[in-house]
Amino acid sequence: MQQHTADLAADEERMKRVAGRNNAITGSIILLFDLMMLLLSALLCQQGVIGFEGVVISTLALMSSFGPVVALANLGSTLQSTFAAGNRVLDILEESPVVEDVTGQPETIFTGAKAENVTFAYGDETILQNVSVDVPKGSVIGINGRSGSGKSTLLKLMMRFWRVQQGQITLSGRSVDSINTADLRRMEAFVTQDTHLFHSSIAENLRIAKPDATQTEIEAACRKASVHDFITRLPQGYDTPVAELGDSLSGGERQRIGLARAFLHDAPLLLLDEPTSNLDSLNEAVILRSLREERADKTVVLVSHRKSTMGIADRVYSVEHGRVS
Ligand SMILES: Nc1ncnc2c1ncn2[C@@H]1O[C@H](COP(=O)(O)OP(=O)(O)OP(=O)(O)O)[C@@H](O)[C@H]1O
Ligand SMILES: [Mg+2]
Repeated sequence: MQQHTADLAADEERMKRVAGRNNAITGSIILLFDLMMLLLSALLCQQGVIGFEGVVISTLALMSSFGPVVALANLGSTLQSTFAAGNRVLDILEESPVVEDVTGQPETIFTGAKAENVTFAYGDETILQNVSVDVPKGSVIGINGRSGSGKSTLLKLMMRFWRVQQGQITLSGRSVDSINTADLRRMEAFVTQDTHLFHSSIAENLRIAKPDATQTEIEAACRKASVHDFITRLPQGYDTPVAELGDSLSGGERQRIGLARAFLHDAPLLLLDEPTSNLDSLNEAVILRSLREERADKTVVLVSHRKSTMGIADRVYSVEHGRVS
């Protein structure tokens, strides 16, 4: 993917260079012709063949006749970027998912999750080895370990973003490989380490988690995530376009919007990847209280480095060198 992005950037750079060179050549030729016409008409004027108005008219006429020529010269580079954009769209359409969607299986009702002797590698590099984690329904399970140890990977495997090489991940006693994708997405809410926001309003960004959510439901979710007050203080409240905020949203505000999405989704299993890493202790406390209040009918897998956050876990697993203890 990174390679792909680098290729696209290089293509764009090359196209810009070609377009720039073409513009420079066209501009120079036009200038040359204009000068030649000016010189020629000045010469003719000097010889008395034409008057001064003849010089002005002929030079201006030539200068203004170049419009269509410039448009024609630019057609090449315009078409080039159009084709390049088209190719990118085709590339995306041709992408095949790493893991195929599953449909047509019997419905699954959430009764707990497990990782059983899971071994997983991205390519050759083994990240998790023989990892077993038990997530009984109604529990809060903490996962810690140093950076790069595979904590996020474990959550992604629970979402079936990748297939495990050995062992299995089960939900309600069934391998995730044989659970309908729609059931899996309904049962699991995943808050990633960085919250992606789309170029629409805050409300629309939240509604991704539940397209038919009412304003009251959205506000309730935002209160649980301690972000309601912040949103109501924005110029257009929930209708504020995210693009208008630009980069002014802090890491903690984004993170709380991500959490609000998860609360709105209302899935029985919450997978939270460092949900409090950018929060001050006040906001952290509100979120931990919400999680405590939710735990009656929610199961939570919580990845965190913070001792205070881990405090709500019933059991904490440590991932170290691909193994879990
Ligand atoms: N898509 C990927 N392709 C290849 N390698 C990856 C991919 N995603 C993660 N890795 C590698 O897998 C290892 C584990 O990554 P992971 O994100 O699970 O760690 P983590 O424990 O969540 O770390 P952190 O605490 O920094 O978030 C890292 O060495 C990382 O570079
Ligand atoms: Mg991580």
